[in-house]
Amino acid sequence: MATNTDTIDSLSGDWLARVEAATDLPSLEAERVAALGKQGAITQLLKSLGGMSPEQRQAEGPRIHALRENVTAAIAERKATLERAELDRRLATETLDMSLPVPLGEQGSVHPVSQVMDELAEIFADLGFSVATGPEIEEQWYNFTALNMPESHPARAMHDTFYLRAAEGEEAKVLRTHTSPVQIRTMMSQKPPIRIIAPGRTYRSDSDATHTPMFHQVEALVIDRGIHMGHLKWTLETFLKAYFEREDIVLRLRPSYFPFTEPSAEIDVGYTVVNGRRVLGGAEGFMELGGSGMVHPRVIANCGLDPDEWQGFAFGCGIDRLAMLKYGMDDLRAFFDGDLRWLRHYGFRSLDVPTLSGGVGA
Ligand code: DAH
Repeated sequence: MATNTDTIDSLSGDWLARVEAATDLPSLEAERVAALGKQGAITQLLKSLGGMSPEQRQAEGPRIHALRENVTAAIAERKATLERAELDRRLATETLDMSLPVPLGEQGSVHPVSQVMDELAEIFADLGFSVATGPEIEEQWYNFTALNMPESHPARAMHDTFYLRAAEGEEAKVLRTHTSPVQIRTMMSQKPPIRIIAPGRTYRSDSDATHTPMFHQVEALVIDRGIHMGHLKWTLETFLKAYFEREDIVLRLRPSYFPFTEPSAEIDVGYTVVNGRRVLGGAEGFMELGGSGMVHPRVIANCGLDPDEWQGFAFGCGIDRLAMLKYGMDDLRAFFDGDLRWLRHYGFRSLDVPTLSGGVGA
């Protein structure tokens, strides 16, 4: 390829203009390939040196090399300029908007009944009790018969039981009227010594400000050798002091009757009136909290254990009542209305897990 000074000069002017005209990095790269790539125009010129006579090469060589260097330098400079512009553009557009709203806060809350159940589990675990469960649709044998309430027993009528429709020739099941059937299931499935609590839902056909058809109870059962009423009283006192978080809990065990305990006692707890409200602690008056007693020898025998070897105590309390007394609600029906405002007011944060060390109450 024959060249001369004029051609090289005008080529140089062309290429420098093309490089300058590249407005972004991809088009600049395209120009670089067109000029200096393997098939690029300037590369071709360099290759043409090989076919020249020595004199020609001597004259053309330095000019072509100079052309290549100029264009290479111009590309590098243009590249730096375009890169700086690109960086400025990104800095201007890619800002972090610090005014974005924070993510939505925690949603939902732990229902007071769940909270109290957790508190009970924590308190009784510390005393060596585990948590037992049983079905809410229960056989009459567990709910009544094994608990020393045979069919003709008047206490069956006292419970306002929900009976389920039975299949032909089968006995109707019931919605358990108390958590006491879990006593039977536990004694039949575990070897003594036994220490359990059984919190859960219970059902009776009853509804007013202090009764709902579904409510919650907690049952406690201890079976071992040499158990007596003293163990029952100590356990109740220790539990109530821990639960209400005060030392001045006064307990009265009032003689009573339950078919499944002998002797039986109603659990009464002392309260003080503060600003017109009953607050547990002290002994200005007494209120009933639940039932208790020594497990009836016939109940122990019904579960296949020898009542001469094994004795025990049991008690049962309403959990909803325990929640109302500690956290100050006065209408039980609101517990189960699912009203968000009530739940937000009385609910607990899901991360506030009750512990004895941190305080069982929230
Ligand atoms: N099951 C009884 C009820 O629902 C409460 C109760 C009384 C439970 C005495 C017991 C007990 O374990 O010993 O009314």
